[in-house]
Amino acid sequence: MMTSSKSETTVAKADPCAMVIFGAGGDLTRRKLVPALYNLAESRLLSDNFAVVAFARKLEDKAFREQLRRDVQEHLSGEFRKETWDWLDKRVHPVLGDFRDPEAYARLKETLETVDKEHGTGGNYLFYLSTPPSLFSEIPRRLNEAGLSCEENGRWRRVIVEKPLGRDLDSARSLNRELQKVLNESQIYRIDHYLGKETVQNILVFRFANAIFEPIWNRRYIDHVQITVAEQVGVGSRGGYYEEAGALRDMVPNHLFQLMALIAMEPPISFEAEAVRNEKGKIFRAMKPITPDEVLNLAVRGQYGDGVMPDGEKVPGYRSEPNVPADAATETYAAVKLMVDSWRWADVPFYLRTGKRLPVRYTEIAIQFKRAPFILFRQTPVEQLEPNLLVLRIQPNEGIALSFSAKIPGPVVSIGDVNMDFCNQDYFNGTPTTGYETLLYDCMNGDAGLFQRGDNAEAAWSVVTPILDVWSASPPRDFPNYAAGTWGPKAAGQFMRRDGRRWRRL
Ligand code: BG6
Repeated sequence: MMTSSKSETTVAKADPCAMVIFGAGGDLTRRKLVPALYNLAESRLLSDNFAVVAFARKLEDKAFREQLRRDVQEHLSGEFRKETWDWLDKRVHPVLGDFRDPEAYARLKETLETVDKEHGTGGNYLFYLSTPPSLFSEIPRRLNEAGLSCEENGRWRRVIVEKPLGRDLDSARSLNRELQKVLNESQIYRIDHYLGKETVQNILVFRFANAIFEPIWNRRYIDHVQITVAEQVGVGSRGGYYEEAGALRDMVPNHLFQLMALIAMEPPISFEAEAVRNEKGKIFRAMKPITPDEVLNLAVRGQYGDGVMPDGEKVPGYRSEPNVPADAATETYAAVKLMVDSWRWADVPFYLRTGKRLPVRYTEIAIQFKRAPFILFRQTPVEQLEPNLLVLRIQPNEGIALSFSAKIPGPVVSIGDVNMDFCNQDYFNGTPTTGYETLLYDCMNGDAGLFQRGDNAEAAWSVVTPILDVWSASPPRDFPNYAAGTWGPKAAGQFMRRDGRRWRRL
């Protein structure tokens, strides 16, 4: 194994607190949250004064604990250690109740008081809303009525909400207003699980801890940027949710915009949350608004039909998935071209694409530089002189690659494209992660840098809402327009060809 010279820092334990999970019996809790807490406990990053309050409509204590243990064992990438589980298990306290019932909140309050005494959690509460979005404003309101959301005497109260945070600009605004009626913005932690991915966090380090990239990180050297989030999976059992969302809403104003902002933002003056979020916000605000007339040229939508995946599996089209109507007009593929109106980026297009049932699961950001001037290589066929390409691979096989031209050995000057390739796993032993550890740890410490701020979320929605409006006003006539297992609709290729470019073949 190669080594890197590491800068070691001792990481402090998180603040004492009780974490209340609303929807403790749900999928997210079982697959991500509890395994993440286990990993944090294993790394000794949780405070000794920590507890979990599992709030659910129905759960039977013993069976629930058993289930959680099995879930942790199943979803853990590292080794399961009984001592760590026992440490966590004895800190779990269930509360039964309906999320709309005021009495349930009275019981929750009592339980939290007991937990404070038993575990020394100090009245610090982290409320995690792992519930349907219809409860996102109701639960904080009820917490407020029960006196559970007020921060005083040095005790903190924080609320984590997961997407979907609205379905367009208006609904995002009204959700923010509802939340801000009962909470300060500093108490609201809007999670985007992409920001929990190590390689996403690495983008800022890559850009700003190295002196060699920043001088060329602009329109003088960069031709365009392509961001791809390709998924192999179909919608599976999530048809009900997906019918309300579609690929654009589900992925673009959140995950893809976060990736884009990290690539496009100016260096923040520190890693302090507001400094980072201010710079990201400037990118969302500088994105050129898309008018309804431009939607046809700047966005492409698609829906998968029946098809065969690369491993030979025959899979059904979107319209045959459970809970999806036979004439569904929802897109499962979206591509958009965005421009950032700033000195750094004017005339550098950002092409974003995402889709389900594509041939591979692969997320990357590709930065294509301008071609070198041609004089020396007048005799060289243009296709040999590939422009430099920097690829940040987010998942899987995390790493960074830079391609450049080199002479192919031989008597004539012939040019080939070669690659310098860094793979995370060659240098760093990955600690087991679900992607939620850093996010939970940061929230417990009051660091909101990896969470979305309300005004930024609205700014992001305002960019995509015109596209959503045009798409819903003019239902597609050609759906399904790509077969499962292929790279999306033909129109996506034409969309790039019009600009004299092409999508990367992955
Ligand atoms: C979620 C979307 O936010 O992200 C899903 O709702 C999508 O539709 C998922 O599959 C992708 O996440 P990841 O971490 O697997 O890339």
